[in-house]
Amino acid sequence: MPNALITGWGRCVPPAVLSNADLETVTDTSDDWITSRTGIKERRISHVEVSDLSTVAASHALAAAGLGPTDLDLIIVATCSPDRAIPSAATMVQAKLGATRAGAMDLNAACSGFIFALSTADQMIRSGSMRRVLVIGAEKLSYWLDFSNRATSVLFGDGAGAVVLEAAEEEGGLLAFELGADGTAGDLLCVPASGTEGNPLRRELPTILMEGAEVFRRAVTAMGDSASRVVARAGLSLDDIDLFIPHQANVRIIDATARRLDLDPAKVFVNIASYGNTSAATIPIALSEALEAGRITPGANLVLAAFGGGFTWAAAVYRWGRRVTPVGTSPAALPPSSATALELLAPNIAVHGKGV
Ligand code: ACO
Repeated sequence: MPNALITGWGRCVPPAVLSNADLETVTDTSDDWITSRTGIKERRISHVEVSDLSTVAASHALAAAGLGPTDLDLIIVATCSPDRAIPSAATMVQAKLGATRAGAMDLNAACSGFIFALSTADQMIRSGSMRRVLVIGAEKLSYWLDFSNRATSVLFGDGAGAVVLEAAEEEGGLLAFELGADGTAGDLLCVPASGTEGNPLRRELPTILMEGAEVFRRAVTAMGDSASRVVARAGLSLDDIDLFIPHQANVRIIDATARRLDLDPAKVFVNIASYGNTSAATIPIALSEALEAGRITPGANLVLAAFGGGFTWAAAVYRWGRRVTPVGTSPAALPPSSATALELLAPNIAVHGKGV
């Protein structure tokens, strides 16, 4: 049975920055509140769609793997904010890349989506059915921001991260994973009217609703306990873990989870200050930044953990292979835009109003 190793990685964040000071002009909040309660200083707002962010991240991941688009057998885009319901974001990426041999599908497990997609790709490869799978986590949650709701509108941002998984004889890959869900808690974090429910003539405007305190409590329990279980299932102890890359939703959730695991804070990767919560994209963006920063060494044991709407959660232990540097680089970039974040968010303000 082959192993499935990450051989390429990349990310794409749009250029427009929405700072806490910008948010003070559109909702009743302050830099001090957002920083102390969430750890977020700024987030990115996209002028393009999820398939565009995904395609740039994927081009970097393919170059880092030294592969071309026609080498791919499958593309999975983990997202809850695709350009359209049909066609899927993954088929749009397939077309934009020219990955003519690849199947393509979207996977929605909200913020846990990347680990769900990574483990799906891992099993496809380990079963011998596929050799090279592109896994992307990408979101444009800014589409649903409603500044009359200060509890949610300060948290989310846009971006994409991607990895290429390849069949390999080399040691490494996913040592253990867990995927969980509790659909009875779906209303804790939801976007009503974002699908087919309701009468199309009397549509509510879709917006993110969340019971923050309860999501916080469940997130710490779900991420902490599932991370403990996968580490044990991998035959390791928490002392064997070199880097913990949690979903970036709130720095206090990350800190509380690390304390629950009794993990040294130096082993926890945190970049939420720069991007906020990009849902399924937080872990692959963090992974590519961790590699660039030299935080992942050959043979390193990583723990990934996430929670999200659904309610869903997931955790995985991944042992890195030998190579921690890219084979090549790609010039891929988004079309330039000079629009500010607040200019891009003008339609949100037009439909939902401001919170100040
Ligand atoms: N600015 C200023 N004040 C605010 C803001 C804001 N942006 N938001 C809420 N407040 C106020 C509240 O109104 C409340 O005021 P009150 O005491 O006068 O009533 C006070 O701050 C405290 O509110 P809480 O909701 O208790 O604040 P809390 O410390 O719980 O932080 C937060 C709220 C940040 C939302 C936190 O609960 C959290 O992070 N929850 C988890 C969120 C999360 O991870 N969501 C993503 C899930 S992933 C996915 O699937 C998309």
